[in-house]
Formats: sequence, structure tokens, C-alpha cells
Amino acid sequence: MKSVETSGLTVRLNGFEALSNVTLSLNHPTFTAIIGPNGAGKTILLKTILGLLKPQSGYIRVMGLDPTKEPKRVRSMVGYVPQRDRTSFFVPMKTKDVVMMSRLVWKRPPRWATEYDENVVKKVLRIVGAEDLADRRFDELSGGQQQKVLIARAIVSEPKLLLLDEPFNGVDVRSQYEITNLITSLKESGVSIVMVTHDVSDVINLIDNIVILYKRVIAAGRPEDVLKEDILKSVYGDRIRICSYEPCLMFIPRDSHG
Ligand SMILES: Nc1ncnc2c1ncn2[C@@H]1O[C@H](COP(=O)(O)OP(=O)(O)OP(=O)(O)O)[C@@H](O)[C@H]1O
Ligand SMILES: [Mg+2]
Repeated sequence: MKSVETSGLTVRLNGFEALSNVTLSLNHPTFTAIIGPNGAGKTILLKTILGLLKPQSGYIRVMGLDPTKEPKRVRSMVGYVPQRDRTSFFVPMKTKDVVMMSRLVWKRPPRWATEYDENVVKKVLRIVGAEDLADRRFDELSGGQQQKVLIARAIVSEPKLLLLDEPFNGVDVRSQYEITNLITSLKESGVSIVMVTHDVSDVINLIDNIVILYKRVIAAGRPEDVLKEDILKSVYGDRIRICSYEPCLMFIPRDSHG
């Protein structure tokens, strides 16, 4: 079983080719990190996996389904933590309702929350360390607090595949550690994880695969096979610092907006 499989995937947006001929095959369940410079198409790839963007050509299957034909079914199996940029969302709702909404959306109308649903929401907020934020307005939370709530929202519907777009952006080290533990336990319970990140050092010992994306797949495979000096320099330029971090090479990217 594959969580994500693509072949020759090309995505154009307003005439701009964001992804060209992307071919990928990720086993299920595995933990994959996607890295690549700003503008490489990482977010576009996640949105294409979710069926939010339609490819112009190529093949794509997500948990065996075609997101261009069955986007709802795909989304019911996939949790998504979007990239949180500087513009914070205006969501005049309580935090617990933001999380609950993502659970209720898959129910038949009328979408009443049961006591069980309420307990699940409490539980996931506790897991991400945000239980004390439950009754606060989501758009009044700090950036890092919002990030944790977005992770709770993505896992509350018990996805088979979890897509995370720079989840550590603006998150303090302690919370990074907690989120990493959470991801590890999700993987152990059979969930596939695809995480876009600018810094793989946080997760280097946990990931099965790494994909370097720069409009197309520059390299993909086990970290020790992909994190090579020549590959990294071809993508990030000559001036990055590369250091050894057994069994891989690590690098300090300069395009991070972390
Ligand atoms: N709606 C759009 N119309 C035209 N071009 C777009 C659109 N959305 C994104 N792009 C372009 O597609 C490219 C890839 O964008 P994407 O957001 O996937 O980059 P990214 O790899 O996630 O970068 P970052 O690390 O900065 O988040 C960028 O050059 C971007 O300007
Ligand atoms: Mg992005």
C-alpha cells in the first residue's frame, strides 16, 4: 500500500509551472520529510495531494484514491496542517469549536456533537498541550498556540495520512519536542506522515524518507542517501554550511523563514 503515489505530475497556476513531472512513491505507513527552497512547490504539492489543486497532467493516488475525482473521500482520510504565515486567520470562534468543526464536517446533517466527540476534542487538545486554550478565541491566540490547535484540528478526525506544512514554524523548543513525540506515536499507530520542513535535524532520527523538491524531485530516498553535499549544494547553492551528523550530512539553510 502507498500513501502517496505520483507519476509525471505537473501543476500550473495562472500559467506558472509550480511542479514539473513529479514522480513519487511513499509506502504506508511511513514518515517522509519534504525539503526544498522557498518557492520550490512544497505547499503546492500538499494541496495537490489534498485535491485542492488540480494537476494539468500526470497520475496521482492518495491512499489508493484519485484526489482529482474523489477529493472529499481523500480529505476524509487526510489531516492537513496548513502553513501558517504572518497573516493570521480571522476566526471568531472558540478554540474547541475550531477543532470540533473538523470532526463534525464528516458527519451527516444535522451535525450534532455527541459527548464522545467532546471528549475526543478535549483529548486531542490535551495531547498537543493546548487544553487550557479550549475556551479562548482562536484568532486571539499566539502564533505558536495557533499552530498547536491546527495540529489538534488535523488529528481529531483520525486521519490515515497527516500532511504538515512547516509545523514547527514559530513553535518553541519544548512544544517542538511534544509535537515530535505526538507524530512518533501517530506513526506507530499506523498513520503516514508527510512533513514539509526547512530543518530536518529535528526529525532526522524519525524519518523513513526524505524528498528534495525543487519544482521536480531532485532526490528521494533514505536520509543517508539523499543528504549528500553535491545534491544539497545543487539545490541551495555553494554557500550553505554542511556538517556531519552521523549517519547523514546536515546543512544550515539560509532561506528559512522560521
Ligand atoms: N495562485 C498562484 N498563482 C501563481 N503562482 C503561484 C500561486 N500559488 C503559488 N504560486 C507559485 O508557485 C511556486 C511554489 O509555491 P509554494 O507555495 O508551493 O512554495 P513552497 O515550496 O511551499 O515555498 P515556502 O518554503 O516559501 O513555503 C511559487 O513560485 C509561488 O509563487
Ligand atoms: Mg510553503
